[in-house]
Amino acid sequence: MSAVRKPLPKLVFLRLLSSVATSMAQHKIVPDVIANAPKKPSLIKYPTGAKVIFGNILKPTEAKDMPGVKWAAEKNAFYTLCMVDPDAPSREEATFRQWHHWLIGNIPAEQNIPNICKGETLSEYIGPAPPEGTGLHRYIFLIYKQNGLLKFDEPRLTNRSADMRGNFSIARFAAKYNLGNPIAGNFYQAEYDDYVPILCQQLGS
Ligand SMILES: *[C@@H]1O[C@H](CO)[C@@H](O)[C@H](O)[C@H]1NC(C)=O
Ligand SMILES: *[C@@H]1O[C@H](CO)[C@@H](O)[C@H](O)[C@H]1NC(C)=O
Repeated sequence: MSAVRKPLPKLVFLRLLSSVATSMAQHKIVPDVIANAPKKPSLIKYPTGAKVIFGNILKPTEAKDMPGVKWAAEKNAFYTLCMVDPDAPSREEATFRQWHHWLIGNIPAEQNIPNICKGETLSEYIGPAPPEGTGLHRYIFLIYKQNGLLKFDEPRLTNRSADMRGNFSIARFAAKYNLGNPIAGNFYQAEYDDYVPILCQQLGS
């Protein structure tokens, strides 16, 4: 897994802190997806080098493999991480809102650094696959702090099928497991490119 290596200069980081809530409100993530924006950003970087920065635009090709995700974690705490697309199949007619792309629970934090690889994968990572002609979709990462280790009563979904990915609600999921509001997050936008048909073939759709 790739990691965001260089620490951000302090000033840049402070500017990012104030940007989470503002950008999530601007892009209507509050209230489309969550009622309260997280206070802190998460640092997200794809193996291609593409970074996720408050609604920037990436190509599906750049985001096809699982990214590295970091946030300010508390030692010995457990976290849940998700990536959702509320704009499925399109932002205008989001009848499958939300399509969930990635869901991991019980992520432990060692020395304040979350270790996603040691989390429990509920739904394997699937990159963005916005259908042709549906414009920009929002891809939102949210991190929740758990009240200890959880036992998840969820189907385990692979990256080989699109079954059971749609009609998801991260707010409903958070309520079910008593996760409260997200503590960190970030998002980008993407629209159709040549990688989408390849991904749809992988999903058998
Ligand atoms: C799908 O998931 C498997 C692990 O279950 C992983 O090895 C593989 O690289 C993934 N494939 C894609 C295209 O994401
Ligand atoms: C989506 O889920 C809700 C609640 O679980 C359910 O009431 C609704 O019928 C579902 N819609 C579709 C299209 O599956």
